[in-house]
Amino acid sequence: MANEAEKSPGILLFGAVLLVLVGTMGTIVLPYFDESVVTPTKSAELKNYPTDSAEARGRHVYIREGCNYCHTQAVRPVRADSKLGPVSVPGDYYYDKPTLIMTQRTGPDLTWVGTRYSADWQHEHLLNPQKIGGPASIMPKYDYLSQQDRDDLVAYMLSLKPAPKD
Ligand code: HEC
Repeated sequence: MANEAEKSPGILLFGAVLLVLVGTMGTIVLPYFDESVVTPTKSAELKNYPTDSAEARGRHVYIREGCNYCHTQAVRPVRADSKLGPVSVPGDYYYDKPTLIMTQRTGPDLTWVGTRYSADWQHEHLLNPQKIGGPASIMPKYDYLSQQDRDDLVAYMLSLKPAPKD
């Protein structure tokens, strides 16, 4: 019987389509029914940048320059992340489109980097990461960015912080 099914293109095709449908339902459709995914957190509201704001422009620069290939934006509930700030929850990404969560942590996680450094520090670090982050830092120098792009990028970096607790 198993042999028969393997040889029948109709059954194989039906099985393949069914599997894809189940996968699609599970990963794309079901999350829309999860309150924690479809409700923005207070921290997410802070990142609902107006399109013409410095933060929104800075986010574009961040993507254009590929910062996200080296930096994640997700604090995991593990001890290694315990000093980074509040653990990320799905609602934090409500306005983060395309989401910059990423997976590759070549540099430190930047989810709440806005709580760690001043604007001056950010500018200096972007111009010369090796001077600030140590000679072994493999982060490229972003000294070729226009002043406007760098200002916007720093505004975006400073905006990456959790909403104050009430
Ligand atoms: C090739 C990988 C790479 C790329 C691309 C990259 N970085 Fe980094 N980044 C690092 C590494 C490694 C460090 C840690 C050493 C240091 O501070 O320079 C770092 C550190 C940082 C820090 C300090 C974080 C902390 O908590 O100390 C910030 C902020 C930062 N990067 C922002 C950016 C921005 C903005 C961009 C894009 C314009 C960018 N990075 C692109 C690798 C990268």
